[in-house]
Amino acid sequence: MTYRLNESVPRRLSLAVVLLALATVVSAAEEIAEFTAAELGRIASHGPWPLPWTPDPGNRVSGNAAAIRLGHELFFEPRLSANRRVACATCHQPTRGFQDGRAVGRGLVDGVRNTPGLLNVRHQRWFGWDGGHDNLWSASLRPILDTREMGGSATRTARVLRNKAALDCHYRQAFGTAPDASDPELLVNIAKAIAAWQETLVSPPSPFDMFRDALERNDAQAIAAYPAAAKRGLRLFLGRGQCATCHAGPLFSNGEFGDIGVPFFIKPEGVDPGRQGGIKRLLASPWNLLGTYNDDATRGNATGTQFLRPEHRNFGEFKVPSLRNLKHTAPYMHNGSLATLRDVVRHYSELNEDRLHADGERILKPLNLGKAESSDLVAFLESLSPSEAMPAPVTPAAVCSGR
Ligand code: HEC
Ligand code: HEC
Repeated sequence: MTYRLNESVPRRLSLAVVLLALATVVSAAEEIAEFTAAELGRIASHGPWPLPWTPDPGNRVSGNAAAIRLGHELFFEPRLSANRRVACATCHQPTRGFQDGRAVGRGLVDGVRNTPGLLNVRHQRWFGWDGGHDNLWSASLRPILDTREMGGSATRTARVLRNKAALDCHYRQAFGTAPDASDPELLVNIAKAIAAWQETLVSPPSPFDMFRDALERNDAQAIAAYPAAAKRGLRLFLGRGQCATCHAGPLFSNGEFGDIGVPFFIKPEGVDPGRQGGIKRLLASPWNLLGTYNDDATRGNATGTQFLRPEHRNFGEFKVPSLRNLKHTAPYMHNGSLATLRDVVRHYSELNEDRLHADGERILKPLNLGKAESSDLVAFLESLSPSEAMPAPVTPAAVCSGR
C-alpha cells in the first residue's frame, strides 16, 4: 500500500510537470505568433546587446590601458574645478547611471539642461542635447571649462596632472611623452584620456535584450519570462506609437535630432535654440573633427561634420536620447521637465501639436492611449533597463606601480 502510494505520487507529479511544460511551450508559441514577421524583424534590429567595441579613430589613446586608468582618476578629481569641489562624477554619478537625479545639472551654479547618463556613450554620434560636439573627448573637455559647471582652465588641469606622480606616470605611459606639452594641448590629451575611460561604460543586458535573443534562438522558456505587459508595450512602441522611427537600433536612438514639443523656454526669459545653436557651436569649435586635434589622419570620421550647416528647422530640436537605463536616469527630456516615465508616456499620448514647430515631416500625433495601454508602454520602457541595480564601475588596474 505504502509502496504503491509512493510510486504513484511521483508519477502524478511528473505528469503535472510535463503538462506545465507543455502549456509553457504552447503559450510561448502563441506569443511568438502574436508578433508578425515584420515586427519580429524590427525587434531583432534593437540588438544584439552589447554592441561590439571598436576604438575611436579620432582618439589615439582609445582603448589604451594607461589612458583608461588616467581618465578614471580624473573623472573623480574635483581639483580640476575652480572651487576644487566639482568633479565630473558630481553630476555623472556612477550609481545613477552616471546622471544626478536633478532636472538640470548643478556645478558651480545651476545649468539649463538635464545631465545625460554616460553608459554606452561611446556609441553616440553627436554629443550634448544639441549635438554641440562631434566626438567624445571634446564633449569631455567642455565641462572642465564651462563656467557654470567646473570653471577650470587648461593651466589648472595641467597643474593637477603634473603635481601627482601617479597621474604623471599614467600620462607618460599613455602618450609616450612627459606632460610637457603646452597647457592647451595637455588639456586635449587629458580629455582624450577621460574619453577613453568613458568608452568602457557599457550597461549590462536588459530583460528586453534577453527576450530579443530568446526570440532569435526560439527559446520558449526565456520568451515566456518576458512580462506580457512589456510585450504589449513593445507592440505599441513599434506600431501605433511609431516610437522606433526615432528611437531606433540597439541604442534606441537614430542618433539624430527632433522636436517633440518639449518647451524650449529658459527661466527667467530666454530660449534654448537646441540643435541650431549646437551646429553653430560645433562648427566654431577648435576641437571638432575638422580641426588639428583629430587623430584620424584619413579624416574619414569627419564627413558628418564637414557638410553640416545650421538650418531654420534645427531651431528647438534636441537629440533623440537612447532609451536604455531609463529606470536610473529620471527626470527626463533636455530640461528635465518630466519626472517619471508615466509623465513621458502622457506627453506623447496627449501631445500638443501646436507646440511642434519643426517644418519637417510630422511623425508625431497624439496617441490618446488608454490607461492600460499607457501602463504597458511604461512596462516596456522599464524593460530596457538592467533589472539589477547599477553595478559600480570597476577601477581599471594601475599601469604604473606606486601612487
Ligand atoms: C554640473 C554638472 C556636470 C558636470 C560637473 C559635468 N557634466 Fe557632463 N554633462 C552635464 C550636462 C548638463 C550635459 C548636457 C550638456 C548639453 O547638452 O549641452 C552633459 C553632457 C556630457 C556629455 C555628453 C553626453 C551625451 O550623451 O551627449 C559627456 C560625454 C559628458 N557630459 C562628460 C563629462 C565629463 C567627462 C565631465 C568632467 C570633465 C563632465 N561631464 C562634467 C552635466 C555635467
Ligand atoms: C520624431 C522623433 C521621435 C519619436 C517618434 C519619438 N520620440 Fe521620444 N524623444 C525624441 C526626442 C527628440 C526626445 C528628446 C526631446 C527633448 O528633450 O526635448 C525624446 C525623448 C524621449 C524620452 C526621454 C528620454 C530621456 O532620457 O530623457 C523617452 C522616454 C521617449 N522619448 C520615449 C518615446 C516613446 C515611448 C515614443 C513613442 C510613443 C517616442 N519616444 C517617440 C524623439 C522622438
